[in-house]
Amino acid sequence: MPLVSGLDVIQECTARGLVAGAFNTTNIETTMGIVDAIEKVGVPTFIQVAPTNAALSGFEYIYDMVSRRLAETRVPVALHLDHGKSLGAVEDALAADFTSIMIDASEEPYDENVRISSIAREMTPADLALEAELGSIGGKEDDHGPEVELSTDPSQVEGFVTAVRPDMLAVSVGNVHGYSPTAAIDFDLLAQVRAASSVPLVVHGGSGLPPEQLGRLHEFGVVKVNVASDLRNAMIRAFGEAYAANPQEVSLIRVSTQAVAAISDVVERRIRMLNPSAA
Ligand code: 13P
Repeated sequence: MPLVSGLDVIQECTARGLVAGAFNTTNIETTMGIVDAIEKVGVPTFIQVAPTNAALSGFEYIYDMVSRRLAETRVPVALHLDHGKSLGAVEDALAADFTSIMIDASEEPYDENVRISSIAREMTPADLALEAELGSIGGKEDDHGPEVELSTDPSQVEGFVTAVRPDMLAVSVGNVHGYSPTAAIDFDLLAQVRAASSVPLVVHGGSGLPPEQLGRLHEFGVVKVNVASDLRNAMIRAFGEAYAANPQEVSLIRVSTQAVAAISDVVERRIRMLNPSAA
């Protein structure tokens, strides 16, 4: 089916009590691995790319690749801009027909975050989803880290959501991008944020969180969980292992096919961890 709006993914997941995985792609192998897993599990999903990872190809190429691979798929999937750190990135993703947008002005002071995120709201058509971030998530997204790392302040949530009107809110509640040994959800803080938010929540940093924590997020109003490092590492590991086993290896297609299978396996396991009742 054609790409659906992020609003449709949110709506269907909310109605079915599911949490959507949001998996970062960079290339054809990652895209194929993600979609193979989605087809097996049947849970609505976001496929996403941050500007840092679209640097190689551009948003149009990512759109073409993802929409072409999804044409024969029956599971609803939205193409999401991850960590749009500028209004220019939002504009570029919309021009490339992305169906879901993140504005991330979370490193700015509160008022500036509200101002920039509100402009992104105005730019984003009402039938597409907008994610905004309050509190700044630590760790590194690929090799880019935030200058500020700050937990979401529950007392700011209601005002932020009222002012910006996002469709979902990314929160910083102990989650960290990448493989951090200290990543752990503070469920008390998450519960306070949830109580203050009229929109569903997004948890970034899905690779480093323990499975039992991922399996509880649906109880706390979380509708979307981002996973990137795990997929990237699966692909790099497939190539690393092939080279280590045979430095003369030249079958790119064999190793690429192994990488797709490894990525698919990671995605399937993450979707099942997020949705223990659907497993
Ligand atoms: P991980 O790399 O920890 O999975 O986090 C990904 C992410 O949150 C992308 O926005």
